[in-house]
Order: sequence, then structure tokens, then C-alpha cells
Amino acid sequence: HLEHTKFKTVESVRLGKNDMESWYYSPFPLNYQNVEKLYFCEYCMNFYILESEMQRHQKACILRSPPGDEIYRDDTGPISISMYEVDGKKNSVYAENLSYFSKLFLDHKNLYWNMDPFLFYILCENDDEGSHIVGYFSKDKDSKDNYNLSCILIFPLHQRKGYGKFLISFSYELSSIEDKVGTPERPLSDLGRKSYLSWWCQRIIQYIESKPEDYSFSVEEISRGTYILEKDILYTLEQKGLVKYQGGNSILLTDRNYLKKVFKEAGHPGIPVIRDNIHWIPYK
Ligand code: COA
Ligand code: NA
Repeated sequence: HLEHTKFKTVESVRLGKNDMESWYYSPFPLNYQNVEKLYFCEYCMNFYILESEMQRHQKACILRSPPGDEIYRDDTGPISISMYEVDGKKNSVYAENLSYFSKLFLDHKNLYWNMDPFLFYILCENDDEGSHIVGYFSKDKDSKDNYNLSCILIFPLHQRKGYGKFLISFSYELSSIEDKVGTPERPLSDLGRKSYLSWWCQRIIQYIESKPEDYSFSVEEISRGTYILEKDILYTLEQKGLVKYQGGNSILLTDRNYLKKVFKEAGHPGIPVIRDNIHWIPYK
């Protein structure tokens, strides 16, 4: 547990045009420790101690997006967004650099330093200059534990804009394409748990509302319909008061007005994923 209590040694980072204060310790190589600011290239995620090194790199770096396949694009919102899939084995340096950067904002989460087993799903905002990373999630290529997401991060500057829930939605859309029920790897951070609970709640309510009011639900059936693990559904129903207990039976509450209220109280629904815009085949 020693690592968790370590003080941060990199005070802040610059990513593209933006500065961000770091939150936690990250195990950068020794000569990158105890610095006021590290400069990251937002395309290849290489990092530098001096701004002048960064500027020299910028002239040479030919990337204008993460080094992977664009598997999703949505140009209909106020900001054009894309998702890129990066293979941790083919782009191990990128994956390591991203992990160093991410650890600055992740507390207790295990970080794996062998990138081969992971795919990285990078969320970008697009403009005339290129595709600018704002967050990502990683996913085990072959999880034995139903994990459909290993690590999720939206960079602080871009939090609370609905991107976190967008990534969660995306991870379940991939589960749906794979036709495999999924769950995020544990432990979750406080922010992670809160975002998931809110997303699960809203997704389950949408599912209930898509059926007639006298429909006979079971947890198993909701799981099949949403790709949310049964255990996560039960947890959500309990936490959000969506079940009542009566004479040894648990009864799902399906009153439309009540569902509307619970949905609203769960927070902002997040940026939607347009299923038809995903161009992806499962990893084999
Ligand atoms: N305006 C205002 N608020 C909005 C919003 C908008 N347009 N869109 C969403 N929100 C609200 C949501 O209702 C939600 O509110 P709540 O927390 O009060 O319920 C909150 O913003 C978060 O939702 P969202 O914006 O989709 O998530 P996010 O982009 O902030 O990302 C995390 C969530 C967890 C990914 C992010 O907090 C993070 O990266 N944390 C650090 C790393 C971490 O802990 N990762 C999880 C490890 S398990
Ligand atoms: Na949150």
C-alpha cells in the first residue's frame, strides 16, 4: 500500500494547449520526477521536461490523432467527437505514456505495465488541427471475469460534460456487439462508482420503459437486454429504491412517474453513443 500514500512528484502537466494540476503520484522514470510541469504531446503522448523539447518534437511529430483506427465518429453534436482503438501490443510506448499520464489522476487503481493484453479506446474532440484526446478506457482483450472495462479516465478539464457516461455507454455497446454481459474491473474509485451507479440506473429505467407497464421482468432478463451483469443490476435496484419487498417477494417498481423522478435524480444522462456509427469487430 506504500505507493498509494506517496506524494505527487509531478505538480502539473501540459497536454496540447491545456495545463492541468495533477492529483496523485505516478511512477515516472526517475529523471522525470520532482518537476513542476511535464509537457505531453497530445497525439503520441511522448513527454518532456522542457517546453523547448516539446516544441522541437511538435515540429517532427507526424501524428494528428492517436495511433490507431478510428472506430467511431459523431459530427452531429456541438463538438465533433471520435473514438480510436489503440492496441497496447502494437503501440506499447503510446500505451505506457498514456498510463504514466493517467496515474496522475487515478488513486488506488492497479496500473498494469504490460500493455500487450489491453486495447485502449481513446475519446477525442476533433477540430481542423486534429483529434485531441480528452479521455479513454482500457479493455482486456480476453477477460475471464466478464470485464468490459479495465480503467476509465476523463481528463479533469473535460469532466462533468457527459464524456464519462459516454465511455461507459460505449463499453456496453462493445459488449452488446460481442454479445457478452460485462462489468467494470474492481475496485472502482468514488467518482467511478458514482458514475456507474448513475449510468446503470438510467440504463435500467430506459429498459423498463421500453416494455409495456404490465411486462413481467426478471433480473436475468434485464441483464440479457442491457448487457449489465445481474449483480450490478441488483445493486442498482437496491441503491436507487427501484424494488420494494412484500411478503418475501421483491417487486420491481415500474410506475412511470416514479421512474421519471428516479431517472432525473440520477443526474445528467451524458453524451449518447450512436450505435450505427460504431465500426468495430471484436478482438480475436
Ligand atoms: N453538465 C453538468 N454536469 C454534467 C453534464 C453536463 N453537461 N454531463 C454530465 N454531468 C454530470 C453527471 O450528471 C454526473 O454528475 P454526478 O457525478 O453528480 O452524478 C457527472 O457529471 C459525471 O458524469 P460525466 O460527465 O459523464 O462523467 P465525467 O466525464 O466527469 O467522468 C469519471 C467520470 C469517473 C470518468 C471521471 O470522474 C474521472 O476520470 N475520474 C478520475 C479517474 C477515475 O476515478 N476513474 C475511475 C476509476 S474506477
Ligand atoms: Na462522477
